[in-house]
Amino acid sequence: MCGIIGYVGSKQALPVIIEGLQRLEYRGYDSAGIALISPAGNIEVRRAVGKLQNLVTQLQEEPKPLKGSVGMGHTRWATHGKPTELNAHPHRGPQSRVVVVHNGIIENYVQLKQELVQSGYSFNYSSETDTEVIAHLLEKCMLREGDTLEQATIKTLNRLKGTAAIVAISLDDPEKIVAARLSNAGAVVIGYGAEVEHEMFIASDIPAILPHTRRITFLESNEVAVLNTAGVTFFNSKGEVISKEIVTVNIDAISAAKGGYKHFMQKEIYDQPQALSDTLLGRVDLENGNVKLEDFKFSKSDIAAIEKVTLIGCGTSWHAGLVAKFWIESLAGLPCDVDYGSEFRYRDPILTPNHLLVAITQSGETVDTLAGIEEAKLKKAKVVSVVNVVGSQAARVADGVIYMHAGPEIGVASTKAFITSLADLFLLAVYLGRERGKLGADRAQSLLQSLVEIPNLLANTLLENSIYDQISRKFYTAKDFLYLGRGINYPIALEGALKLKELSYIHAEGYPAGELKHGPIALIDEGLPVVAIVVKDGLYDKVVSAVEQVKARDGFVLAIASEGDELIAGKADKVIYIPNTDPLLMPLLTTIPVQLLSYHLAEIRGCDVDQPRNLAKSVTVE
Ligand code: M6R
Repeated sequence: MCGIIGYVGSKQALPVIIEGLQRLEYRGYDSAGIALISPAGNIEVRRAVGKLQNLVTQLQEEPKPLKGSVGMGHTRWATHGKPTELNAHPHRGPQSRVVVVHNGIIENYVQLKQELVQSGYSFNYSSETDTEVIAHLLEKCMLREGDTLEQATIKTLNRLKGTAAIVAISLDDPEKIVAARLSNAGAVVIGYGAEVEHEMFIASDIPAILPHTRRITFLESNEVAVLNTAGVTFFNSKGEVISKEIVTVNIDAISAAKGGYKHFMQKEIYDQPQALSDTLLGRVDLENGNVKLEDFKFSKSDIAAIEKVTLIGCGTSWHAGLVAKFWIESLAGLPCDVDYGSEFRYRDPILTPNHLLVAITQSGETVDTLAGIEEAKLKKAKVVSVVNVVGSQAARVADGVIYMHAGPEIGVASTKAFITSLADLFLLAVYLGRERGKLGADRAQSLLQSLVEIPNLLANTLLENSIYDQISRKFYTAKDFLYLGRGINYPIALEGALKLKELSYIHAEGYPAGELKHGPIALIDEGLPVVAIVVKDGLYDKVVSAVEQVKARDGFVLAIASEGDELIAGKADKVIYIPNTDPLLMPLLTTIPVQLLSYHLAEIRGCDVDQPRNLAKSVTVE
C-alpha cells in the first residue's frame, strides 16, 4: 500500500525523503508527493502522477532546490480516487496551514465531509480522496479551537473510522511532525537518529530508514507520536503521555539492493538457495530428527491439546498454506484447513482454544490476514505467524512467530518469501509431528536430510536454461495459459498462474490435472499453452494421462518433470527437468520453473517486472 516517510532534524529533509521514497516505491507507484516547511515560512508541496521518477524530474526542474528540515513524502497506491495529481498526497487543509499524508482507508469520510461542509468548510482542492477530510479536521481543530498539532491529531484520530496511518505537519506548529496510527493500519515506524544530529524519522517500514538508523519504535493502534529535534513523545488516544520501548533492528540494507541483476524480482529468484539456507540455519537437528523453532512458544501440553490447524494467507501466502496442508495432515496427523485471510473472518469460523491458527504473510501487514488473526484471538485460538518482516504487526500480535529469514523482498511478486514460508511450514509440520509423537525419528531424519539438501538442488534448478527464452518467444502474444498440477503440486500450478497474471498481464488459470476433463479441456487448442507439473510422485501416471488428453487435442505442453524421466520427453513438446527429492518436498523445486517462466514472459512483453500495474507489495486495506 502507500508508503510514508517523514524527517525532522538539522539536515536538508528533501534528499532524505526522496531516498526514503525510493525504498518505499514498491508499496505503491500511482503518484508521489512531498511537503516541506520552508525557511520562508511556507509549506511547499510538490506532487506528480506515476512513478517517483516523475516527481524527481519535476523537482530537478525547479529554479532553486527546495529547502527545509521538516518534511514528509508519500508514494500512493490508489484506493479512493484515480491516480491523478489532484488525488496525489500530501493533501492540504482549506487554508493550506496543515498538510497530511495517509496510508489506509477512512470508512466514515463521507459523513465527516458532510459535517465539515455544514460547518462552513469548502473542499477547495477537491480531490476524490478520503484523506482530504483529515487535513480539514486537523486545520479546523488548530485554527478554530486553538489546538496544537498533536492535540488536533488526537481529536481527529478519535473521529476517524477505518485503518489509517497519518503523518501531518503544520505552519502553526512548524518544528514538529505528528504521526498517528488508527486501528490495524499499516506499520508506522519511528526512527531515532544519531544524537549529535538531533534528528528523527518516520516511515511505513524499516528498510526506508535503515541507512540512517537501526533504533526504532513501532506505533501501536490508536497511538500518536510527536517528533522534533529533541526526540519523540508518545500519546494514547486519550491524550495521555505513554512510554514505549526502543528496539535495535538488524536488517542488512545491502541485501535490499539489486546487486547487478536487472530486476529485484530476478535477484530474489536467484537469492532463493541462500534465503532457504538462512531459514534452516540452527533449526534442524539432523542427528535426532528434531526441529527447533526459537519463537514458537507453546508448551508440550498445549501442543498435545491441539485438535485442528487452520492456515490463512492471501495470494502467494495462501498458496503456501495449500501446500502446507499436505504436510500438517501427513506429518503432524492433524486435520487442517486453509482459507483466504479475506474470507476467513466473514464466515464466523468455529475456533476453540485447542485450535492452532497459522497466519502466513511476507509483509506481516496484510490487513485481511491481520483481521483473521484478530478473529482467532477473540475466539481464544492459539495463533502463530509465519512472517518475513521482523517486528511487523503479524509478528507482534501472534502468540508465536516463525520468521522466514528471506531478507527484504522488494519485487512486488513474491518469490523468495514463498520458498522460505514453505520451509517454515514444513519445519512446523515436522515439529508438531515429533512433539505429538506422530512422526518417528527415522522418517523425520530422512525428511530433514532431504530438506537441508534443497538449497543445492535449487541452485541446480536455477542454472541457465534456454527453454524459458524459447517458450517466451513462442508464446509472448498468447492470451491465456493453463497450469496443471496434482496433489501437493496443484498449489504450484495456482502459484504459476498467479505469477504469470501479475507480471505479464496474460490471463492464466491453475487447475488440478484431474479436473481437466470436467470442463477446461474445452479450451484446449494449439493457441493455449499448457504448463503441466508432472513429477515422479504417487500421482505421476494420472498427470501423464492429462498431458495425453491435451496432446490429443493439439495442445502445446511444457512439462516440469523429474530428472531422468524419458517417457515424458516423448509426450510433451518441451520439458524442464528438476532434480529428484522426497515427493513431499517437490513443491520447493517445481516453483522455480514457474517463477522463471513468468519472469521471462514479462520481460519479453516489456512489462514492469518489479512494479506491475495496479499492484502493491503489502495490501494494508480491505
Ligand atoms: O505480505 P503477504 O504475504 O501477506 O501478501 C499476500 C499477497 O498480497 C501477496 O502474496 C501477493 O499475492 C503477491 N503479489 C504475489 O506475488
